[in-house]
Amino acid sequence: MITVRIPATSANMGAGFDCMGVAVNLYNTIEISEIKSGLEIVGSNVAEFIPRNGRNLVYRSMLALFDEVGYKACGIRIRQKSDIPVTRGLGSSSACVVGGMIAANILSGKKLSYPEILNLAFKVEGHTDNITPAMFGGMCISAVDGEKIIHKSIKIDPGIKFAVIIPDYFIGTRKSRKTLPDKLPYADAVFNISRAAGFALCMAEGKLDGLREFVRDRMHQPYRKDNISGFDKISEKSYELGSKATYLSGSGPSMICIINENYSVFADNMNKFMKENDIAAVCRVLSVDNVGAVVKY
Ligand code: HSE
Repeated sequence: MITVRIPATSANMGAGFDCMGVAVNLYNTIEISEIKSGLEIVGSNVAEFIPRNGRNLVYRSMLALFDEVGYKACGIRIRQKSDIPVTRGLGSSSACVVGGMIAANILSGKKLSYPEILNLAFKVEGHTDNITPAMFGGMCISAVDGEKIIHKSIKIDPGIKFAVIIPDYFIGTRKSRKTLPDKLPYADAVFNISRAAGFALCMAEGKLDGLREFVRDRMHQPYRKDNISGFDKISEKSYELGSKATYLSGSGPSMICIINENYSVFADNMNKFMKENDIAAVCRVLSVDNVGAVVKY
């Protein structure tokens, strides 16, 4: 049996739309065995979300890798235990894609390198910003050149924490992208590249002064925030409570507040505020995962 543990991820990080993401310490643990025949998808704590047939994302990702390397498995058994909230903008599907492909690569004789697996994962997932930190950990900046991903991974100071606000409703990435415009004014593109570059530098240095400006974005959040209950209120309150930068995680609906002190006081006060304002969400403080996907045999 092969066990792969893959972290949750938070993509975009403000201005880094589709190219920046960070791994955090919630995990999907996937156990995979090759069996004599068929497909068995067994015992999972998120069973209600998981197709137990050929549409299963871990399985589809495994097949994509088997196709690539020309391997034919007899049969496959998959078991998952996931702490990653599903369809909340925390990389639950990327964890399935990355985990399925890493396991399939081992089963089929380790023919692909991690960068090659990443390129293949991009074909299945469609974006790079969650799969890259899910695989390599830390904060990742990725660029796509045709079918190839070039990335840089930054180890983040563990004193920097990610207070995640997880609402009680879902928003799928595909649906959320429909709210985005087809074109972006030149000035907005300049606005975003200046901030994404500054954001990455602050995070690499572990110096968060200025992060509040560098997290600002004109590419996706202004178009998406009306679908996120209490976005402006939560954002305003987060800065009052000491957030250094607050942003919509991936395509939402979760939000992230980057903090570097008084972690539990922040979460307690944010939870109290949301309760008082009838915002159905919970705030939890997460740490960075600087390691990425881990394999156990
Ligand atoms: N960057 C994507 C989006 C989500 O904002 O639609 C994660 O891949």
